[in-house]
Amino acid sequence: MFKGRFRKEEKKQRRAAVVSVGKYMPPHILTNFDLEKMVDTSNQWILERTGIKKRHIVKNGLRQSDLALRASQEALARVGWSPMDLDMIVVGTVTPDHIFPSSANTLAGKLGAIGVPSWDVLAACSGFMYSLYQGMVTVESGRADKALVVGSEVMSSIVDWTDRSTCVLFGDGASVLLLEATYEPYGIIDMEIGSDGRHLKLLHMPGGGSAHPATHETVNNKEHFLHMEGQETFKLAVRKMLLVAKTLLERNHVNPEELGLFIGHQANLRIIDAVTKRLNLKPDQIFNNIERYGNTTSATIPSCVYEAEMMGRIKKGDWILLVSFGAGLTWAGALIKWGIDPLPVLGADAMADDSVSDTYSDRLKPGRDWQKQ
Ligand SMILES: CC(C)(COP(=O)(O)OP(=O)(O)OC[C@H]1O[C@@H](n2cnc3c(N)ncnc32)[C@H](O)[C@@H]1OP(=O)(O)O)[C@@H](O)C(=O)NCCC(=O)NCCS
Repeated sequence: MFKGRFRKEEKKQRRAAVVSVGKYMPPHILTNFDLEKMVDTSNQWILERTGIKKRHIVKNGLRQSDLALRASQEALARVGWSPMDLDMIVVGTVTPDHIFPSSANTLAGKLGAIGVPSWDVLAACSGFMYSLYQGMVTVESGRADKALVVGSEVMSSIVDWTDRSTCVLFGDGASVLLLEATYEPYGIIDMEIGSDGRHLKLLHMPGGGSAHPATHETVNNKEHFLHMEGQETFKLAVRKMLLVAKTLLERNHVNPEELGLFIGHQANLRIIDAVTKRLNLKPDQIFNNIERYGNTTSATIPSCVYEAEMMGRIKKGDWILLVSFGAGLTWAGALIKWGIDPLPVLGADAMADDSVSDTYSDRLKPGRDWQKQ
């Protein structure tokens, strides 16, 4: 397991700071009541067992790379960067437009970031956090000054819409963070990251890879949908997320009560409750949006960061703790000293439909003074 000691002692001066955020959720909404008409479930069961009320689903040919594009364009516009200013683009996803080329390549092409290195990270619900780790170490090392880190998913494309035990859980969406090198005392202070590949069958998609390429049989057997053993995954998620959170807090001498905000992977509100209760966190130290989006896999954590920033729930100097858990098994955490001055807050109208209009970026003030120094 990565301990981070070498990094902290040797390279503490140059850090990767979060300097901008972007989000795009497809406009079409699927409520629990809609699901009641599709499978044998109820709004009450879904709400009580998961905390989810609705989720956003792509329609009309919108692709994962389109969601990522809109979220990325918003984040870039916010700081006035051109796509060509980027030194790297990394996308965490389990639902790329195609197996290859990578969705990061596609995103780079759509953005016009020609020549900018771009690649995908496959770490399921930890995909964004693993991507953040790559962004962090690359910026800290001096190989990159500006990184676009993306979590983007079209989970609706790999969900079995006749399986009530999984189809109620997931949603589509994309969110991004922009990282920039800084010598200020802000940014990603520490990360914890790990995996345990012995639990493949807890959560996986059996078909479509080289082990089980697509055949009529794999299609008939529903092998191209995700399969999950929910209860066991639940228990391991609580255990690992708690361990990651405690490790990061203890290693950096931060008390739980000093946390400005805890953001956990949005798989199930009961998982987050179990973790945050054991950390003795108060409600105002926790940010969730699972109620509105369900589990958007790699997009959950950056979408929470986005909304927390927009709603004024994070302020400069706050400690932010992000913790993920996902198939693999994979887990990761990031302890961040928030360094952004307040950004323009979204109007109630813009938040209402959970989407970011194409013209939203025009209403943002690009750049912040401390970044330009
Ligand atoms: C999936 C999950 C919500 C299921 O909740 P649960 O409380 O564990 O429920 P169970 O699987 O034990 O099922 C309990 C009952 O509800 C039923 N059920 C399952 N899905 C249902 C649904 N959508 N509507 C109604 N009933 C449902 C089951 O069939 C079972 O019925 P039974 O007792 O008659 O057999 C939960 O296990 C979970 O969130 N797991 C972890 C997910 C996760 O962490 N993912 C991380 C990586 S993304």
